[in-house]
Amino acid sequence: MRTQVGIVGAGPAGLMLSHLLHLAGIESVVIENRSRAYVEQRVRAGVLENDTVELMKSTGVGERLVREGLVHHGIELRFNGEGHRIDLSGLTGGRTISVYGQQEVVKDLVDRRLRDNGAIIYEAEDVRIDDIETATPRVSYTSVEGRQELRCDFIAGCDGFHGITRAAIPRSARAVYDWNYPFGWLGILAAVAPSTEELIYARHEQGFALHSLRSPELSRLYLQVEPDDDLANWSDDRIWSELATRFATRDGWTLHEGPIIERAITPMRSFVIDPMSYGRLFLAGDSAHIVPPTGAKGLNLAVHDVRRLAQALEEHYTRHSDSLLDSYSKDCLRRVWQVQRFSWWMTSLLHRFDDAGDPHRDRLQRAELEYVTSSRAAATVLAENYVGLPGI
Ligand code: APR
Ligand code: PHB
Repeated sequence: MRTQVGIVGAGPAGLMLSHLLHLAGIESVVIENRSRAYVEQRVRAGVLENDTVELMKSTGVGERLVREGLVHHGIELRFNGEGHRIDLSGLTGGRTISVYGQQEVVKDLVDRRLRDNGAIIYEAEDVRIDDIETATPRVSYTSVEGRQELRCDFIAGCDGFHGITRAAIPRSARAVYDWNYPFGWLGILAAVAPSTEELIYARHEQGFALHSLRSPELSRLYLQVEPDDDLANWSDDRIWSELATRFATRDGWTLHEGPIIERAITPMRSFVIDPMSYGRLFLAGDSAHIVPPTGAKGLNLAVHDVRRLAQALEEHYTRHSDSLLDSYSKDCLRRVWQVQRFSWWMTSLLHRFDDAGDPHRDRLQRAELEYVTSSRAAATVLAENYVGLPGI
């Protein structure tokens, strides 16, 4: 088989790249090791930046997002038993975020790729990439019909953090920045009306909690837990009572409880590989970088990468210039590090870091929260990052 761009991974990065390339008249094949059902059902984050929404709308995959996505103009920071609203729109000249599950983005992109006769190969086993330093790199994999080979001009590594493409960049040619936080998040999806209209990020002595939502009938909630915590330690009762404690306010706010329909624990880390490209391999999304979910940036950053990559490939094929391909890694990493900084800051602001208690850090955290919620300048820094920094 032959194509112009071989894309490894059918997550948001790989699918969006394939869609953007198609609109630019460039052929691609997406190779995914899981099944379609698995990829479409996996519950992940759900906050889309202003520009992610605009991109989906302007490229014809935003119809359901416009219908079902929830447009938000603010978020709440809750600490010391009190809520403080950050007016995202008011502080950013009217920009908004939309709450729309990542798997819904994936479903919309898959639908559109299939309507455009796009090739997505699911359940490809033993995927490997070769010859990335030549002009004819290859992706090979095993399907029910045996070993297959895809010859291409370029390979896009969109296979997430646990993928295989990143390892093709020789050790001597890459620097890796890796940091694990001393906690994880227990996330639940619950069949109950959200207890809030806007997201609540809560800092509490017992740890961080986040109230998000998916629809008028579905709530999405998270709790800071031990990094190696086990779901078996968390009965439904313990989850709800811990959430109620961390969200409690002095004026008696109540959290609605309901059946928990999905639950998982994820560790929290920051990770960056530099460079994000080598020869004819270009990494995009989680395969190149991970941020802790506190800033809701993972999916949005992946979309920024593939938008750049699609432009660079378009320049290669239509204008016969590789200037954007050559600067792809440097251009992406500028934003990646801004987003790393913001996600690290949001995480540091809201989590409990030391089980034994650290009075100095504790007071600094509270001072920072008081500053962010009382200074328009400080709140603007949060807001412009949260809705997505323009132009980098
Ligand atoms: N071969 C083929 N596909 C693979 C392989 C492999 N060896 N390893 C992983 N994959 C697939 C995964 O099954 C997944 O469908 O690659 C895809 C990667 O998708 P994501 O992990 O969703 O990563 P990405 O597309 O970069 O999306 C960005 O933003 O909200 C965050 O972490 C969240 O996944 C989200 C990310
Ligand atoms: C989510 O809705 O899943 C969500 C929202 C905000 C975050 C992380 C996850 O920071």
